[in-house]
Amino acid sequence: MAQSKPTLNLIGAGRVGQTLGRLWTQAGVFAVQDVLTRSPASARAACELMGAGTPTQSLGTMRPADVWLIATTDAHIAASAAALAAHAVQAPGLPTALRTHQGGLANAAPAAPQVAPPPSPTAFHCSGALGADQLAPLAALGWHTASAHPILSFATPQAACGQFVGTPCALEGDPAARALLQDAFSAIGAQCFEVRSQDKLLYHAAAVFATNFLPVLQSVAEDAWRATGVPAALLPHLRTSLLNNAVANITRLGPQDALTGPAARGDTEAIARQSAAVGAWDNQAGDAYRALSALALRLAGH
Ligand SMILES: NC(=O)c1ccc[n+]([C@@H]2O[C@H](COP(=O)([O-])OP(=O)(O)OC[C@H]3O[C@@H](n4cnc5c(N)ncnc54)[C@H](OP(=O)(O)O)[C@@H]3O)[C@@H](O)[C@H]2O)c1
Repeated sequence: MAQSKPTLNLIGAGRVGQTLGRLWTQAGVFAVQDVLTRSPASARAACELMGAGTPTQSLGTMRPADVWLIATTDAHIAASAAALAAHAVQAPGLPTALRTHQGGLANAAPAAPQVAPPPSPTAFHCSGALGADQLAPLAALGWHTASAHPILSFATPQAACGQFVGTPCALEGDPAARALLQDAFSAIGAQCFEVRSQDKLLYHAAAVFATNFLPVLQSVAEDAWRATGVPAALLPHLRTSLLNNAVANITRLGPQDALTGPAARGDTEAIARQSAAVGAWDNQAGDAYRALSALALRLAGH
């Protein structure tokens, strides 16, 4: 007899929850079951987008499930896990009451990937910076816990669904939960790898360096150009040409060979004079210029 799909409950179903719920529904990986958000309307809309799930209005009405995704914003993950653990204690069937895997739910399509849940429920969240320890109250009940961070900008669920294949996904947590999530994320095209719990903050800060600081640097540059009389009409051209050339060079040559400017030439005297000039204009920008120049000199091997 073909096994039925493991059930998945969602607490929080915004951009990430809806994207994953829809992809897993389409791939026949999980049977999305109960969906809890802050408002009935958004839970209904999430179920519509996922093409699966029953909107619920409180933890108390959520049924037992093999897997629980806490896809709230980071600030609400720990409280949601604590509330779920408290609910599981009050509802004695919940922590261990798993389906029999022998019917009761629609069978997976013949080609659907099989994800075998461990005998206790699994709970996970998708934060890049936070670890599985946010789910400690559930781990204390014997649940398997993990975090799974897909490195993708989830602008909208529709866009993210189309962009998801090939997305690197960092898994962290206990081995049984990681094994389940490895199968589930791989089945929808993610490239999974492991991050140690103690490395999560640094791992996530790397993504901040790789992408979040680019707009900051661009904004400082444009302010300095404006302050020095560069015509405003030229700024869009400067933005487009310099950024496009930098991206093309970095992706083609790698960061070290793409580096140009005073640090690449080892011109420490020019760096010192420019740091002072930037600092005189804007103290914080001067500090950033000095710190980034030191990193640039190290990258250039000077
Ligand atoms: N966005 C990204 O690009 C991205 C990328 C990788 C990882 N992540 C991670 O994915 C997780 C979710 O982020 P997101 O961008 O999907 O957030 P989001 O779009 O803001 O959605 C958050 C969802 O959580 C619900 N919610 C908030 N507090 C709740 C509570 N106390 N109880 C129940 N539901 C609650 C919201 O309900 P309502 O719908 O009613 O408001 C909404 O459905 C975060 O851990 C984030 O760090 C995000």
